[in-house]
Amino acid sequence: MTPAEDICTEAEIRDLVHTFYGKARADAQLGPVFNSQVHDWDEHLATLSDFWSAVLLGTRRFTGMPMPKHAAMPNLSAELFERWLALWRATTDALPNRALADAAQEMAKRMARSLWYGYQLSRDPSQPLTELRPA
Ligand code: HEM
Repeated sequence: MTPAEDICTEAEIRDLVHTFYGKARADAQLGPVFNSQVHDWDEHLATLSDFWSAVLLGTRRFTGMPMPKHAAMPNLSAELFERWLALWRATTDALPNRALADAAQEMAKRMARSLWYGYQLSRDPSQPLTELRPA
């Protein structure tokens, strides 16, 4: 892909990631989870910028493993994922770049759904799976 075809720049991704996690850290529901588990915020923000660059621009910088990392967290719930999605939606809705906002919202919904399924299966595979409520 040539840069002219990209839906956004790396700088827009970095800004979005920084703005979103600034809000998530201050959020009554999400803040305690992030603040107790993220010890190096510079590293986390760099990892998440790489993740979104891979998803939105097709770069190959992200080499992490989101599923096992989230599965290992003790207290995730549908409510927390729904809160995460609502905050992501509010943050991306405020962007002037609509193509970026739309793609980021669509991908986040898919990822949240898949992480929530994985989370439930990692806890008790015999229980019926619950869906996230649409934001
Ligand atoms: C309930 C909602 C969520 C919470 C509380 C949460 C929390 C966290 C925390 C604490 C970490 C750091 C883990 C570590 O470094 O050990 C992390 C990593 C990460 N999260 Fe989430 N997360 C949530 C939802 C999502 C969603 C919806 C996405 C994708 C759209 C996502 C993408 C990632 C990625 C890519 C990493 C880095 C994984 C890696 O380093 O391999 N998270 N998350």
